[in-house]
Amino acid sequence: MKGIALIGFMGSGKSTVGPILAEELELAFVDLDDVAAGLASATVGEIFAADGEAGWRRWESLALRKVVERNPVVLACGGGVVLKPENRDTLRREFLTIYLKTSEAVLVGRLKNASGRPLLEVADQEQAVARLLEERRDIYEASAHAILSTDGKKPRTVAAEAAALAAKVGKSGPEM
Ligand code: S3P
Repeated sequence: MKGIALIGFMGSGKSTVGPILAEELELAFVDLDDVAAGLASATVGEIFAADGEAGWRRWESLALRKVVERNPVVLACGGGVVLKPENRDTLRREFLTIYLKTSEAVLVGRLKNASGRPLLEVADQEQAVARLLEERRDIYEASAHAILSTDGKKPRTVAAEAAALAAKVGKSGPEM
């Protein structure tokens, strides 16, 4: 069985849905941000401060390679993991990759006052969310085997829908 990777923008619910889904599928849950921070022995904020976004992306890519060795797991990915083509290839090859798609309005509301996300620690957070979403929307869609819309749904509902997708793929193979 392949692992399940949840991708999507910051605030789309990957780290909330992931543990519920993992329990349902009886798989370990892994948060890629935690693995990357663990490898670097530093917080996400510290890594960004010391080495910038490029430095963070290196730790994140290394973390993804390490997680593959532990597959199958349910993996909540950081929102920017899909920016590197090598990571997109890994996600599509090694996981059933599900994009948790959340509207801009919901994301903006959820991310308000959120801390620990260096890309959003800017004067105009709403504008940053809009710009990053614009840059990434197509990449999320192209990276995923399946898209789950999350607006108006409880995390438990999203997890149940993801589990149903996993069951379907288990029967018919990963080509979706
Ligand atoms: C990022 C998302 C964050 C974290 C880092 C960068 C991004 O993870 O990896 O702050 O580029 O979207 P979450 O999506 O879990 O917040």
